Amino acid sequence: MATHGKLAVLGSINADHILNLPAFPRPGETLQGDHYQVAFGGKGANQAVAAGRAGAQLSFIACVGDDAIGERIRQQLVQDKIDTAPVSVIAGEATGVALIFVNAEGENVIGIYPGANAALTPERVRAQQATIADADALLMQLETPLESVMAAAKIARAHGTQVIVNPAPACALPDSLLAMIDVITPNETEAEALTGVRVDSDEKAAEAAQILHHKGIGRVLITLGSRGVWFSEQGRGERIAGFRVKAVDTIAAGDTFNGALLVALLEQQPLPAAIRFAHAAAAIAVTRRGAQPSVPWREEIDRFLAAQE
Ligand code: RIB
Repeated sequence: MATHGKLAVLGSINADHILNLPAFPRPGETLQGDHYQVAFGGKGANQAVAAGRAGAQLSFIACVGDDAIGERIRQQLVQDKIDTAPVSVIAGEATGVALIFVNAEGENVIGIYPGANAALTPERVRAQQATIADADALLMQLETPLESVMAAAKIARAHGTQVIVNPAPACALPDSLLAMIDVITPNETEAEALTGVRVDSDEKAAEAAQILHHKGIGRVLITLGSRGVWFSEQGRGERIAGFRVKAVDTIAAGDTFNGALLVALLEQQPLPAAIRFAHAAAAIAVTRRGAQPSVPWREEIDRFLAAQE
């Protein structure tokens, strides 16, 4: 299904080195893993792939190194229906890397080396002004330099392009950036970093959402893990539960949620239906290993949702 609008995604590209272990090693401890995989990841690329597989018409603004894995990743992005013309190859740089441990519960811990992602400078973003101006929505995360996220948001605002930010990994953000955001999608940890409110209940989610509304953000979606999503619009909030599945690996669950959400929003689905669609995509992703290898295609999401009725 084709979407009704154009999407631009700006963000990171990583090669994920994933080791599955019975438990996370403690400091000084060595543990043997039972599965190792190098998979394509990076929050930006994962969200672009999730949107592409769910049916978006999209361009991806990003950087890879001039190495073999960077070239393989670019080829895969094309297979995932993504316009990669705005992906720059950075001479002498390595493609970004993420080292990921996954425990028996499917939880993960991640360390990152930015590599070429650090080269996504405001100048490179401004060179892609036409791509941002031409899009209906711009989706970003925080694995690329913050000043570039700001530069892209400014271009989007000047051209009537909606700004959606998934503020991951967690960090405090300047009010000047928050004021340019139309939709924000933090998880509990990220919401706390942005607002100072510990989000451990629906009431606290509502309190954090109000703070973000007061900073100028119209739609706030706080993801609550297995409890679903707290969404708040014009000061009114509600929790929408997710789907129960057996999780083997939660890498890129949030990224899949964000990419699929954007597709549903561009299709003008009402927000609760768009969240349900995104929940379905994320539910499928957590039943599989890896970041991009776990991201579902549109047919799978539609089939999953049909089976719930
Ligand atoms: O959100 C998951 C992603 O975070 C992984 O693919 C890894 O690359 C890190 O960026």
